[in-house]
Amino acid sequence: MKKKVLITRHLLGEGMKILKQKYDIVNNPESFPFSRGVLLKEINNCHGLLCVGDKIDKEIIDNGKALQVISQAAVGVDNIDIDYCTTKRIPVGNTPGVLVTATANIGILHILNGMRGFTKGNFDIRKGQANSSDPCYTLGRDLEGKNLVIIGFGNIGKEVAIRATVFGFNLFACSPDFTEDIRINDTVVKAISFDEGIKIADVLSLHLPLTKSSRNLINKDIFRRMKKNAVLVNLARGAIVNTEDLYSALVNHEIGFASLDVLDPEPIPVDHPLLSLDNVFLTPHMGSSTVETRIKMADLAVRNLMNGLEGIPLETSVNQNLF
Ligand code: DGY
Repeated sequence: MKKKVLITRHLLGEGMKILKQKYDIVNNPESFPFSRGVLLKEINNCHGLLCVGDKIDKEIIDNGKALQVISQAAVGVDNIDIDYCTTKRIPVGNTPGVLVTATANIGILHILNGMRGFTKGNFDIRKGQANSSDPCYTLGRDLEGKNLVIIGFGNIGKEVAIRATVFGFNLFACSPDFTEDIRINDTVVKAISFDEGIKIADVLSLHLPLTKSSRNLINKDIFRRMKKNAVLVNLARGAIVNTEDLYSALVNHEIGFASLDVLDPEPIPVDHPLLSLDNVFLTPHMGSSTVETRIKMADLAVRNLMNGLEGIPLETSVNQNLF
Protein backbone atom coordinates (compact mmCIF):
# COMPACT_ATOMS: atom_id res chain seq x y z
CA MET A 1 0.00 0.00 0.00
CA LYS A 2 1.28 3.46 -0.89
CA LYS A 3 2.14 5.84 1.93
CA LYS A 4 -0.01 8.94 2.28
CA VAL A 5 1.36 12.46 2.10
CA LEU A 6 -0.37 15.71 3.02
CA ILE A 7 0.80 18.81 1.15
CA THR A 8 -0.59 22.05 2.52
CA ARG A 9 0.30 24.35 -0.41
CA HIS A 10 0.72 24.42 -4.15
CA LEU A 11 4.25 23.19 -4.95
CA LEU A 12 6.41 24.75 -7.66
CA GLY A 13 8.74 22.62 -9.78
CA GLU A 14 8.59 18.92 -10.50
CA GLY A 15 8.15 17.78 -6.91
CA MET A 16 4.44 17.13 -7.11
CA LYS A 17 4.86 14.87 -10.15
CA ILE A 18 7.51 12.82 -8.35
CA LEU A 19 5.46 12.57 -5.18
CA LYS A 20 2.32 11.54 -7.08
CA GLN A 21 4.13 8.58 -8.61
CA LYS A 22 5.26 7.24 -5.24
CA TYR A 23 2.61 8.23 -2.72
CA ASP A 24 -1.08 8.91 -2.23
CA ILE A 25 -1.31 12.67 -2.11
CA VAL A 26 -3.75 14.91 -0.31
CA ASN A 27 -3.09 18.36 -1.65
CA ASN A 28 -4.51 21.75 -0.73
CA PRO A 29 -5.90 23.04 -4.04
CA GLU A 30 -6.24 26.59 -2.68
CA SER A 31 -3.60 29.30 -2.42
CA PHE A 32 -4.47 29.99 1.23
CA PRO A 33 -3.76 27.64 4.17
CA PHE A 34 -5.99 24.78 5.27
CA SER A 35 -8.23 25.71 8.19
CA ARG A 36 -7.20 24.12 11.47
CA GLY A 37 -10.19 21.78 11.34
CA VAL A 38 -9.24 20.51 7.88
CA LEU A 39 -5.59 20.11 8.87
CA LEU A 40 -6.57 18.16 11.99
CA LYS A 41 -8.74 15.87 9.91
CA GLU A 42 -6.44 15.41 6.93
CA ILE A 43 -3.30 14.69 8.94
CA ASN A 44 -5.00 11.68 10.46
CA ASN A 45 -3.67 8.82 8.32
CA CYS A 46 -0.73 10.64 6.74
CA HIS A 47 2.83 9.35 6.87
CA GLY A 48 4.37 12.56 5.58
CA LEU A 49 3.50 16.23 5.90
CA LEU A 50 4.87 18.90 3.57
CA CYS A 51 3.94 22.31 4.95
CA VAL A 52 4.74 26.01 4.72
CA GLY A 53 4.16 28.06 7.85
CA ASP A 54 1.07 26.12 9.05
CA LYS A 55 0.79 25.90 12.82
CA ILE A 56 1.92 22.39 13.65
CA ASP A 57 1.42 21.98 17.39
CA LYS A 58 0.99 18.99 19.72
CA GLU A 59 -2.65 18.45 18.81
CA ILE A 60 -1.91 18.31 15.09
CA ILE A 61 1.11 16.09 15.65
CA ASP A 62 -0.86 13.74 17.91
CA ASN A 63 -3.60 13.51 15.31
CA GLY A 64 -1.01 12.43 12.76
CA LYS A 65 -0.71 8.97 14.29
CA ALA A 66 1.16 7.57 11.27
CA LEU A 67 3.47 10.60 10.84
CA GLN A 68 7.06 9.71 9.96
CA VAL A 69 8.34 13.08 8.74
CA ILE A 70 7.44 16.76 8.56
CA SER A 71 9.09 18.71 5.79
CA GLN A 72 8.70 22.47 5.67
CA ALA A 73 9.46 24.46 2.53
CA ALA A 74 10.98 27.33 4.52
CA VAL A 75 14.03 27.84 6.68
CA GLY A 76 12.20 29.16 9.75
CA VAL A 77 10.35 26.48 11.71
CA ASP A 78 8.89 28.57 14.55
CA ASN A 79 5.42 27.39 13.49
CA ILE A 80 6.28 23.77 14.39
CA ASP A 81 6.63 22.29 17.88
CA ILE A 82 10.11 20.92 17.23
CA ASP A 83 10.70 19.64 20.77
CA TYR A 84 7.53 17.60 20.62
CA CYS A 85 8.46 16.21 17.19
CA THR A 86 11.85 15.23 18.60
CA THR A 87 10.20 13.53 21.57
CA LYS A 88 8.04 11.59 19.13
CA ARG A 89 11.10 10.89 16.94
CA ILE A 90 9.60 12.68 13.94
CA PRO A 91 12.32 14.38 11.89
CA VAL A 92 11.55 17.91 10.73
CA GLY A 93 13.13 19.21 7.54
CA ASN A 94 13.60 22.84 6.52
CA THR A 95 15.21 24.60 3.56
CA PRO A 96 18.26 26.62 4.61
CA GLY A 97 20.88 27.69 2.09
CA VAL A 98 18.79 27.77 -1.05
CA LEU A 99 16.98 30.99 -0.12
CA VAL A 100 19.92 32.95 1.23
CA THR A 101 20.71 34.97 -1.90
CA ALA A 102 17.12 35.98 -2.65
CA THR A 103 16.51 36.98 0.96
CA ALA A 104 19.76 38.93 1.33
CA ASN A 105 18.96 40.79 -1.89
CA ILE A 106 15.58 41.93 -0.61
CA GLY A 107 17.30 42.86 2.66
CA ILE A 108 19.45 45.34 0.77
CA LEU A 109 16.34 46.73 -0.92
CA HIS A 110 14.82 47.39 2.51
CA ILE A 111 18.00 48.95 3.87
CA LEU A 112 18.35 51.30 0.89
CA ASN A 113 14.67 52.13 1.02
CA GLY A 114 14.87 52.97 4.70
CA MET A 115 17.77 55.33 4.16
CA ARG A 116 16.51 57.00 0.98
CA GLY A 117 12.75 57.33 1.47
CA PHE A 118 11.41 55.76 -1.71
CA THR A 119 8.13 55.08 0.07
CA LYS A 120 7.20 58.72 0.48
CA GLY A 121 8.32 59.54 -3.05
CA ASN A 122 6.19 56.74 -4.43
CA PHE A 123 3.10 57.83 -2.46
CA ASP A 124 3.62 61.47 -3.38
CA ILE A 125 3.77 60.75 -7.12
CA ARG A 126 0.52 58.81 -6.89
CA LYS A 127 -1.12 61.65 -4.98
CA GLY A 128 0.24 64.31 -7.36
CA GLN A 129 2.28 65.78 -4.49
CA ALA A 130 5.84 65.06 -5.58
CA ASN A 131 7.97 68.19 -5.66
CA SER A 132 11.41 67.38 -6.94
CA SER A 133 12.07 71.08 -7.69
CA ASP A 134 12.43 71.62 -3.92
CA PRO A 135 16.03 70.79 -2.93
CA CYS A 136 14.79 69.83 0.52
CA TYR A 137 12.14 67.40 -0.73
CA THR A 138 12.34 63.71 0.40
CA LEU A 139 15.86 63.98 1.65
CA GLY A 140 17.37 60.61 2.46
CA ARG A 141 20.76 59.98 3.99
CA ASP A 142 24.04 58.84 2.52
CA LEU A 143 25.13 55.37 3.50
CA GLU A 144 28.88 56.01 3.78
CA GLY A 145 30.03 56.05 7.37
CA LYS A 146 26.63 55.06 8.77
CA ASN A 147 26.38 52.15 11.19
CA LEU A 148 24.60 49.08 9.89
CA VAL A 149 24.03 46.70 12.80
CA ILE A 150 23.00 43.19 11.83
CA ILE A 151 21.24 41.20 14.55
CA GLY A 152 21.58 37.50 13.78
CA PHE A 153 24.72 36.70 11.81
CA GLY A 154 23.81 33.41 10.16
CA ASN A 155 23.85 32.73 6.43
CA ILE A 156 21.43 35.51 5.52
CA GLY A 157 22.93 38.09 7.89
CA LYS A 158 26.39 37.39 6.44
CA GLU A 159 25.17 37.76 2.85
CA VAL A 160 23.56 41.08 3.75
CA ALA A 161 26.92 42.18 5.21
CA ILE A 162 28.77 41.14 2.03
CA ARG A 163 26.42 43.23 -0.11
CA ALA A 164 26.53 46.13 2.34
CA THR A 165 30.31 46.45 2.07
CA VAL A 166 29.98 48.19 -1.30
CA PHE A 167 28.00 51.04 0.25
CA GLY A 168 30.63 52.13 2.76
CA PHE A 169 28.64 51.29 5.90
CA ASN A 170 30.43 50.72 9.19
CA LEU A 171 29.41 47.12 9.74
CA PHE A 172 28.53 45.50 13.06
CA ALA A 173 26.99 42.14 13.84
CA CYS A 174 25.52 40.63 16.96
CA SER A 175 25.04 36.88 17.29
CA PRO A 176 25.78 34.46 20.14
CA ASP A 177 28.45 32.63 18.10
CA PHE A 178 30.00 35.75 16.51
CA THR A 179 32.59 36.94 18.98
CA GLU A 180 35.57 37.97 16.84
CA ASP A 181 35.61 40.67 14.17
CA ILE A 182 35.94 39.44 10.59
CA ARG A 183 36.99 41.11 7.37
CA ILE A 184 34.69 41.01 4.34
CA ASN A 185 35.84 42.70 1.11
CA ASP A 186 38.25 44.97 3.02
CA THR A 187 35.56 45.99 5.49
CA VAL A 188 35.79 44.84 9.07
CA VAL A 189 32.55 43.48 10.52
CA LYS A 190 32.80 44.17 14.21
CA ALA A 191 31.25 41.89 16.80
CA ILE A 192 29.00 43.98 19.02
CA SER A 193 26.72 43.35 21.98
CA PHE A 194 22.98 43.73 21.52
CA ASP A 195 22.82 46.64 23.98
CA GLU A 196 25.62 48.52 22.23
CA GLY A 197 24.28 47.64 18.76
CA ILE A 198 20.82 49.10 19.26
CA LYS A 199 22.36 52.33 20.58
CA ILE A 200 24.70 53.01 17.68
CA ALA A 201 22.62 51.66 14.78
CA ASP A 202 21.66 53.96 11.93
CA VAL A 203 20.16 50.82 10.44
CA LEU A 204 19.21 47.88 12.66
CA SER A 205 18.63 44.86 10.46
CA LEU A 206 17.08 41.70 11.92
CA HIS A 207 18.08 38.28 10.60
CA LEU A 208 17.62 35.97 13.56
CA PRO A 209 15.17 33.09 14.06
CA LEU A 210 12.02 33.51 16.12
CA THR A 211 12.53 31.66 19.40
CA LYS A 212 11.26 32.08 22.96
CA SER A 213 14.10 34.50 23.64
CA SER A 214 13.81 36.54 20.42
CA ARG A 215 10.01 36.93 20.58
CA ASN A 216 9.23 40.57 21.40
CA LEU A 217 12.98 41.33 21.48
CA ILE A 218 12.48 44.73 19.85
CA ASN A 219 10.03 46.51 22.12
CA LYS A 220 9.37 49.96 23.60
CA ASP A 221 12.41 49.81 25.88
CA ILE A 222 14.63 49.15 22.91
CA PHE A 223 13.07 51.84 20.71
CA ARG A 224 13.74 54.39 23.46
CA ARG A 225 17.42 53.51 23.38
CA MET A 226 17.75 53.74 19.59
CA LYS A 227 18.78 56.78 17.55
CA LYS A 228 15.84 59.06 16.74
CA ASN A 229 16.42 58.68 13.01
CA ALA A 230 17.32 54.97 13.06
CA VAL A 231 15.89 52.65 10.43
CA LEU A 232 14.56 49.26 11.54
CA VAL A 233 14.64 46.50 8.94
CA ASN A 234 12.98 43.15 9.64
CA LEU A 235 13.44 40.24 7.26
CA ALA A 236 13.21 37.58 9.97
CA ARG A 237 9.88 37.09 11.72
CA GLY A 238 7.24 39.67 12.61
CA ALA A 239 6.89 38.58 16.24
CA ILE A 240 10.51 39.56 17.00
CA VAL A 241 9.23 43.14 16.95
CA ASN A 242 6.34 44.25 19.17
CA THR A 243 4.01 45.78 16.57
CA GLU A 244 2.15 48.03 19.01
CA ASP A 245 5.40 49.40 20.41
CA LEU A 246 6.73 49.89 16.90
CA TYR A 247 3.65 51.88 15.95
CA SER A 248 4.13 54.17 18.97
CA ALA A 249 7.84 54.52 18.30
CA LEU A 250 7.17 55.60 14.71
CA VAL A 251 4.36 57.99 15.65
CA ASN A 252 6.44 59.55 18.44
CA HIS A 253 9.57 59.67 16.27
CA GLU A 254 11.57 57.53 18.69
CA ILE A 255 12.95 55.95 15.53
CA GLY A 256 12.87 57.30 12.01
CA PHE A 257 11.59 54.53 9.77
CA ALA A 258 10.68 50.85 9.60
CA SER A 259 11.13 48.78 6.47
CA LEU A 260 9.58 45.38 7.04
CA ASP A 261 9.14 42.18 5.08
CA VAL A 262 7.52 40.37 8.00
CA LEU A 263 4.79 41.49 10.35
CA ASP A 264 2.91 40.41 13.42
CA PRO A 265 0.14 39.59 12.68
CA GLU A 266 0.59 38.29 9.18
CA PRO A 267 -1.33 39.12 7.10
CA ILE A 268 -1.83 42.47 8.75
CA PRO A 269 -5.46 43.74 8.66
CA VAL A 270 -5.89 46.53 6.11
CA ASP A 271 -7.23 48.85 8.81
CA HIS A 272 -4.20 48.34 11.08
CA PRO A 273 -2.90 51.76 12.25
CA LEU A 274 0.63 50.91 11.13
CA LEU A 275 -0.58 51.12 7.55
CA SER A 276 -1.57 54.75 7.98
CA LEU A 277 2.03 55.87 8.62
CA ASP A 278 4.28 57.18 5.91
CA ASN A 279 7.47 56.24 7.77
CA VAL A 280 6.81 52.53 7.20
CA PHE A 281 7.48 50.44 4.12
CA LEU A 282 6.04 46.94 3.93
CA THR A 283 6.48 43.93 1.72
CA PRO A 284 4.38 40.79 2.28
CA HIS A 285 6.95 38.22 3.49
CA MET A 286 8.59 37.89 0.11
CA GLY A 287 12.26 37.45 1.05
CA SER A 288 12.51 34.14 -0.76
CA SER A 289 9.84 34.72 -3.37
CA THR A 290 11.61 34.38 -6.68
CA VAL A 291 10.64 31.64 -9.12
CA GLU A 292 14.06 30.03 -8.96
CA THR A 293 14.35 30.11 -5.18
CA ARG A 294 10.84 28.85 -4.52
CA ILE A 295 11.49 25.92 -6.89
CA LYS A 296 14.74 25.12 -5.04
CA MET A 297 12.91 25.29 -1.71
CA ALA A 298 10.12 23.02 -2.94
CA ASP A 299 12.62 20.52 -4.41
CA LEU A 300 14.64 20.37 -1.19
CA ALA A 301 11.46 19.99 0.86
CA VAL A 302 10.35 17.12 -1.39
CA ARG A 303 13.73 15.39 -1.03
CA ASN A 304 13.59 15.80 2.75
CA LEU A 305 10.07 14.40 2.80
CA MET A 306 11.03 11.36 0.72
CA ASN A 307 14.12 10.70 2.84
CA GLY A 308 11.99 10.76 5.96
CA LEU A 309 9.49 8.37 4.44
CA GLU A 310 12.34 6.03 3.47
CA GLY A 311 13.75 6.23 6.99
CA ILE A 312 17.03 7.84 5.95
CA PRO A 313 18.52 11.12 7.29
CA LEU A 314 17.06 14.28 5.79
CA GLU A 315 19.42 16.52 3.78
CA THR A 316 18.59 19.41 6.07
CA SER A 317 16.78 18.87 9.32
CA VAL A 318 16.37 20.83 12.52
CA ASN A 319 16.42 17.85 14.87
CA GLN A 320 19.47 16.11 13.47
CA ASN A 321 20.14 13.96 16.51
CA LEU A 322 17.25 11.69 15.60
CA PHE A 323 19.22 9.45 13.26
C1 DGY B 1 11.54 31.13 5.54
O1 DGY B 1 12.02 30.33 4.73
O2 DGY B 1 11.55 30.95 6.76
C2 DGY B 1 10.89 32.32 4.96
O3 DGY B 1 10.58 33.26 5.91
C3 DGY B 1 9.64 31.89 4.24
O4 DGY B 1 9.78 32.19 2.93
